[in-house]
Amino acid sequence: MRSLSLVAAWAALLSQVQCLNILITSNDGFGTASVRELYRQMTSLGHNCYVVASVTAQTGEGVRADFTSNPRLDSDGDWGLVKAGAPSLGTDPTDSHIWYYNGTATAQVLVALDYILPTVCGLTVPDLIISGPNSNSNSGAFLQTLSGAMGATYVAIERGIPAMAFWTGNDATVYSSLNSSTRVGLQDPATINARLASNLAQAFISKANGDRVLPEGYGVTVDLPYITSETSDECTNPPFVLARPAQEVGVKVAYNHKSGIFNRMQADASPNKVEVTNIEGTVDPKCLSAVTVFALDYDAVRRRQCFNLADVTAIIPVVVHSNGSTALIGGLGANASISGNSSQSPPAVVISPPSIQTAVTSIATLVQWSISSLVLGLVVGVVSS
Ligand SMILES: *[C@@H]1O[C@H](CO)[C@@H](O)[C@H](O)[C@H]1NC(C)=O
Ligand SMILES: *[C@@H]1O[C@H](CO)[C@@H](O)[C@H](O)[C@H]1NC(C)=O
Ligand SMILES: *[C@@H]1O[C@H](CO)[C@@H](O)[C@H](O)[C@H]1NC(C)=O
Ligand SMILES: *[C@@H]1O[C@H](CO)[C@@H](O)[C@H](O)[C@H]1NC(C)=O
Ligand SMILES: *[C@@H]1O[C@H](CO)[C@@H](O)[C@H](O)[C@H]1NC(C)=O
Repeated sequence: MRSLSLVAAWAALLSQVQCLNILITSNDGFGTASVRELYRQMTSLGHNCYVVASVTAQTGEGVRADFTSNPRLDSDGDWGLVKAGAPSLGTDPTDSHIWYYNGTATAQVLVALDYILPTVCGLTVPDLIISGPNSNSNSGAFLQTLSGAMGATYVAIERGIPAMAFWTGNDATVYSSLNSSTRVGLQDPATINARLASNLAQAFISKANGDRVLPEGYGVTVDLPYITSETSDECTNPPFVLARPAQEVGVKVAYNHKSGIFNRMQADASPNKVEVTNIEGTVDPKCLSAVTVFALDYDAVRRRQCFNLADVTAIIPVVVHSNGSTALIGGLGANASISGNSSQSPPAVVISPPSIQTAVTSIATLVQWSISSLVLGLVVGVVSS
């Protein structure tokens, strides 16, 4: 009895400290401030995190898995972080857990799962894949299929790995221009977006209590609103609310007779339907984070257990408000501080990106294998599997 209760106590202790292996990716690129902040925050929660993301923004590519045909970059990566001539795959010179690759969002996940993590990091399968925070909104069902950031989650889920995607109304910024305080004394929007994402990811991890973070086939996508901390505290702690994805196709094209080509029109998909009632007057509807749970299961019509699954509200953590919630609590927690670091406010200097020479040389030193055979191996592997 005694040893049994000791075992139980030990198990309980272990379940409180769940250190997961987490892969973070983004179609805005590996140098995005919100992605670096998410990596920093998830790591400080005790998780073993890696970033593998594109060297240039890769939006709207859906699930297209595009691997570069060139072992070296033929032009500079975004923000000039990696220069033309550098290998198409490499690490950040200051952190060997942060990688870039020249490929679409889906390709990042495949390169990470099939090469970087097992070969270089000794990690077979990560416990969770997080895509983002990516710029722009993901509202609307059809947009989700066209989106590269969602493509990253689809390939993860098809590999049996729980996946979450985060979107933000804020534009992508480079990590080297991240401010510890904005002009109005608040945290950088990228820091707040990452805090929201890490809070929600951690809430799902804690809720799963040592089990899979999400049931097989399930994913979560979250639309974070525009965080206003550059100018005011108007929207800096948005509550998480459960939403259902819009079902109709929200994309149209128009034929331009003059140019003879088709143009994609501004998508007018109706937004995801928020499931919380009684929010009027309690919160600005523009300052909500819409949380959507989705499933990918091509065999759903045949698998009877699909229809016996627990209600989605049984999967979501309490920080996500669902129908019936009245008082909405901000996603950072009640009364969370969003003050910038006043000892550095306003920032006099921003950290410069690594110099061209340092970045390229360190990457070249770190990447000691033949990139061309790696890329070829990946393409062959993907085609034949
Ligand atoms: C990435 O690879 C593609 C195709 O191989 C190429 O067109 C593109 O210019 C490359 N990007 C960079 C930044 O070199
Ligand atoms: C950081 O602050 C400076 C000065 O106010 C500003 O120019 C820059 O855009 C800010 N960085 C980001 C990422 O917003
Ligand atoms: C919320 O719950 C109420 C009462 O149970 C129900 O009438 C309403 O349709 C629900 N709304 C949504 C969006 O599910
Ligand atoms: C948040 O602040 C309000 C008053 O401003 C207070 O009533 C409440 O207890 C605080 N909540 C927490 C969790 O500290
Ligand atoms: C604020 O900045 C100082 C100086 O860089 C640093 O030592 C401190 O840890 C920072 N505090 C927070 C809360 O980020």
